[in-house]
Amino acid sequence: MNGPNLNLLGRREPGIYGTDNLQTIAAQLFDEYRDEAELEWWQSNHEGSIIDKLHEAGYDERYTGIVLNAGAYTHTSLAIADAIAAIPLPVVEVHLSNIFSREPIRHTSLIAPVCMGSISGFGAKSYSLAVRALL
Ligand code: DQA
Repeated sequence: MNGPNLNLLGRREPGIYGTDNLQTIAAQLFDEYRDEAELEWWQSNHEGSIIDKLHEAGYDERYTGIVLNAGAYTHTSLAIADAIAAIPLPVVEVHLSNIFSREPIRHTSLIAPVCMGSISGFGAKSYSLAVRALL
């Protein structure tokens, strides 16, 4: 699950986020895990849609876990943190960039305390490591 502005990956601040777009990252991940897991990919720029999706997926027994890049909502959204706390499915927090080496406002994650764990700073590999953590 991907949050705001991640649809612009590849064009958005490539010095920080790299030149791969979200579709390329997803395709690589699907290929890497083709024999191990059935993955789904989703993105929204809207806080409420992310919360709805967490509620939906979080009680769906078909899923093993959720990998979430909440984008800037990571640092601001108590509502997303509450949604994660409200569901039984484990959520792994991911970030392409190392949020702790960036501006101080990004050093705080409101969702980290309610996630199973957090992976930050490995580019597209952050997603791969997060999936691995759930298997
Ligand atoms: C991000 C880091 C956030 O601070 C930022 O707002 C993003 C992307 C990352 O993947 O590195 O939108 O989650």
